[in-house]
Amino acid sequence: MEKAFVIAVDGPGGAGKGELTKRLAKEFGFTLLDSGAIYRVLAYAARQAGLAMFDEDSLVQEANVLSLSFKVEDDGVHVLLGKEDVTKAIRTEENGINASKVAAHPLVRTALLERQRAFRQEPGLVADGRDMGTVVFPDAQVKIFLDASPEVRATRRQKQLEAAGKEADYEQILKEITERDERDRNRPVAPLKPAEDALLLDSTNMSIEEVFETACQYIRTKM
Ligand code: C5P
Repeated sequence: MEKAFVIAVDGPGGAGKGELTKRLAKEFGFTLLDSGAIYRVLAYAARQAGLAMFDEDSLVQEANVLSLSFKVEDDGVHVLLGKEDVTKAIRTEENGINASKVAAHPLVRTALLERQRAFRQEPGLVADGRDMGTVVFPDAQVKIFLDASPEVRATRRQKQLEAAGKEADYEQILKEITERDERDRNRPVAPLKPAEDALLLDSTNMSIEEVFETACQYIRTKM
């Protein structure tokens, strides 16, 4: 039996995956999996439990008992850790850095694999992450790798922060983005890289509308 349709969207932070996958899920009526949120919740829970981000065994234990759920509300998808709404708390830069440290441990990634695959259900799934097309859903019907230059990604992030009324230093953001990329691209297991059969989209000089239209046209050729 043909497995449920998966649109795997991978790429570095700030390339526009979040906005693209949200629009694609709406367009095709598919469920959305934000896999980065899972690593972020694990990092947040680990921090609260006083664990060190290098302590792989304890992180695996935490991953195995992690009570994580997504809830669709009027204002978007909310992320819950137990009963606590951690949607905002997991989005800090510090927690993002911790998430990428947690995500570098091979056994932590294995512990989270089935949890991610369980999202593959009819009518279909849009999966947002770093290894959706390479590791989690290697047989996805559509794979897209969305990239953009670090400078453009830093500028977008700066604008997002400023719009949220937060302080945003461009040089600092660029440094953090570059360091996180480095860790994500160079880890031994599931490094950030395009699947061989992925459509490469460089959004450096594209608007979100152009990215969305290009992706939709490509996806329709695969349906
Ligand atoms: O996408 P987001 O910035 O929320 O992801 C946070 C971190 O989680 C990333 O920097 C990356 O290290 C890790 N991650 C991952 N694999 C995924 C999704 C996220 O390793 N599929």
